[in-house]
Amino acid sequence: MELVGTNSNLLADALGHIQREIDAAFDAFLPMPGDTRARLVEAMRYAAIGGGKRVRPLLVAATAELYGVDRDAAVRAGCAVEAIHVYSLIHDDLPCMDDDDMRHGKPTVHKQFDDATAVLAGDCLHALAFEILADPATSGDPFVRTELIQTLATASGKDGMAGGQMMDIVAEEQDYDLHTITRLQQLKTGALLAASVEMGAILGRIAPEGRGHLRAYARDIGLAFQIADDLLDHEGDEAKAGKALRKDEGQGKQTFVSLMGADKAREQAHALVDQAIGHLGTHGSEANLLRALARFIVERDR
Ligand code: IPE
Ligand code: IPE
Ligand code: MG
Ligand code: MG
Ligand code: MG
Repeated sequence: MELVGTNSNLLADALGHIQREIDAAFDAFLPMPGDTRARLVEAMRYAAIGGGKRVRPLLVAATAELYGVDRDAAVRAGCAVEAIHVYSLIHDDLPCMDDDDMRHGKPTVHKQFDDATAVLAGDCLHALAFEILADPATSGDPFVRTELIQTLATASGKDGMAGGQMMDIVAEEQDYDLHTITRLQQLKTGALLAASVEMGAILGRIAPEGRGHLRAYARDIGLAFQIADDLLDHEGDEAKAGKALRKDEGQGKQTFVSLMGADKAREQAHALVDQAIGHLGTHGSEANLLRALARFIVERDR
């Protein structure tokens, strides 16, 4: 993928670095068992290793870096968020949800294995996320571990990703206004991105009162991220995206693109990114990676 702009090397290097670290972490967390659970772990490895951009782990790591957090701790927390994300994609692709055959340029988990294995692989990645966070290797401080667990749990459940997925499904039968679509996107996609930033700050032992600007940054990029995904569905290149596109309209999905058209949605996404970067004004060059990541979120082609 070509990255343009002053911070292109910074971002490309950081993405490459975190992608290798997350692949290695999943490899270590998921050894193959020598019994009949092998199919399950094979499916988890198939979904979790390789393929994803790893935007969420990079958000954890880039935020943690602002506060001098140990890299290993940040990668573990990033891997936990990514485990939730990968599980959400496996379930999102199931026939009873979006019914997709391709993900990350290869057959979806239920196509490669079967529906039951895909459901169980998702369940186990969900559980793995909290095993990683509860382990003292993530933080020696039980208060930090508890806050990480609470933040990721809230962002994953009914007040986060899964709640947004429900709204997304109900949208196929009912018209939503701008406020409701915004809420849907914030839950479905924004919550896990916001949790990633929050977890970097938690590892950095920043008190909630000191996280306001980071929360504002995260809220804006979260919304921009899903608008970019919906624009990709509308006008992207399937070979680059590694998944089937031009499906949202036929499935009756309600998005910023369906509500206001592609041009206005694109304008909105760029405005949100400018606003997100504005929230980082109190930081100097140490926040350049978060700034570059915000731009990447709307300029990406996959
Ligand atoms: C795709 O997320 C699903 C959404 C939440 C929009 P990503 O675009 O982060 O997926 P990968 O893991 O990098 O493919
Ligand atoms: C999925 O949104 C968000 C999740 C929580 C997985 P989409 O359904 O638009 O994601 P893609 O386009 O399949 O990656
Ligand atoms: Mg979906
Ligand atoms: Mg989908
Ligand atoms: Mg989509």
